[in-house]
This record gives sequence, structure tokens and C-alpha cells, in this order.
Amino acid sequence: MAVRSFQYDTFSLLLHWSLTILIFAIGFSAPFMDHRSQNGLIVFIGQFHIIGGYVVLGLAVISVMWWASRQVPPPVRDIETGEQRWMKLAVQTLVILLFLSPLTGIAYLAAVGQGLELGPLKIAVDTGLGRPALNWLSLTHHVVSAALVMLGGAHSLHVVWHHVVREDSLIGRMIPWHRL
Ligand code: HEM
Repeated sequence: MAVRSFQYDTFSLLLHWSLTILIFAIGFSAPFMDHRSQNGLIVFIGQFHIIGGYVVLGLAVISVMWWASRQVPPPVRDIETGEQRWMKLAVQTLVILLFLSPLTGIAYLAAVGQGLELGPLKIAVDTGLGRPALNWLSLTHHVVSAALVMLGGAHSLHVVWHHVVREDSLIGRMIPWHRL
């Protein structure tokens, strides 16, 4: 139970928690996407899903730029090297999925003629793709996004496990009031 005082800076915390909330909220809105014509609330949820995806992509770009400009965080000293390697791999995979999930969704929407719509501005490309290709795009978006939500869930449970079972200070890196 070594004490470690490192904590991420405020901007990293903001990026981490806004991405966390958005990813789980967008994940919960996904099952409504096939029923978008049914009523106003579901149309709204569908819009949230799409706009949320663009926001995740924007935050992913900002995060990568931010990480490149800040100091490399010190390793978690009370966690052994093997486990730290897995944690690093999980975070790197999460970052890749943060890009792939919205990008595959945007590609699918563009392919079905629903490009980026910002008020009067609409950027849509007529890809002329047939149904089998569209189904592959849709499946790719489903698989990549499910992987993002599941890996994000596993990463969260791993941190909570450290907090509850190992009683170390890992969670305090991202939650200020849990800082040891
Ligand atoms: C979908 C949800 C989540 C995603 C995509 C995610 C993603 C990430 C990423 C990219 C990092 C590296 C951050 C950086 O270097 O600035 C990170 C670190 C971290 N996350 Fe998450 N996270 C999620 C949920 C959570 C939750 C719910 C918790 C707490 C219960 C948590 C706790 C942590 C901690 C403690 C670290 C620091 C690990 C270290 O310094 O080695 N994360 N997370």
C-alpha cells in the first residue's frame, strides 16, 4: 500500500471524464438507432448518438494533442511491471477505438447519404455502395463500438478492483477526492 502522490492535471481529468460519460451514454443510446422514425424522443436520442460521436472524435483529437504536449505521467509505483504493461496496452487500444468507433459510424452515415449536417450545411457523398458493403460497414461500426464500451467497462472495473480489493491509490490518479 505504497503512497503515491501523482494526479493528472485538471484538463486531462476533464477530457477523461467527459469521454467516459459520453461513451457510456452513446452506448446506451445505440439500441434506439434502428427505431428512429418512431417518435420525437427516439429521434432526439438518435441525434444525440450522432452528435455525441462527432464530439468523441473531437475530444479524441484534442486528447492526443494534449498528451503529446504534456509530460509523460510517472508509472504507478505500487503496481507490478507486468500488470502495468497490460494497463498501457488497454489504454492504447482504447485510444485507437476512440477514433475508430466514430469514424466507422460517420463512414456508414455518409455511405447511406446522411453526411455531416450542420444547419443549412450538409456534406454528403454519394458512395453508390451496394447493400452488402453497407452491411459490412454497419457491422464494423457495431463491433468496434462494442469493443470500446466493453474495454472501457473492463478498464473501469479494473480500477475499482484496485480501489476495493488492493486498496491502493490508483483511482486517486483520476478522482481528486480519492487521492492518497
Ligand atoms: C469508457 C470509459 C473510459 C475510457 C475510454 C477511459 C480511458 C482512459 C484513458 C485514455 C486513460 C489514459 C489517460 C491519460 O493518460 O490522460 C485512462 C486512465 C485512467 N482511467 Fe480511464 N477510462 C474510462 C473509464 C474510467 C473509469 C470509470 C475509471 C474509474 C473508476 C477510470 C480510471 C482511470 C485511471 C485511474 C486512469 C490512470 C491510469 C494510470 O495512470 O496508469 N477510467 N482512462
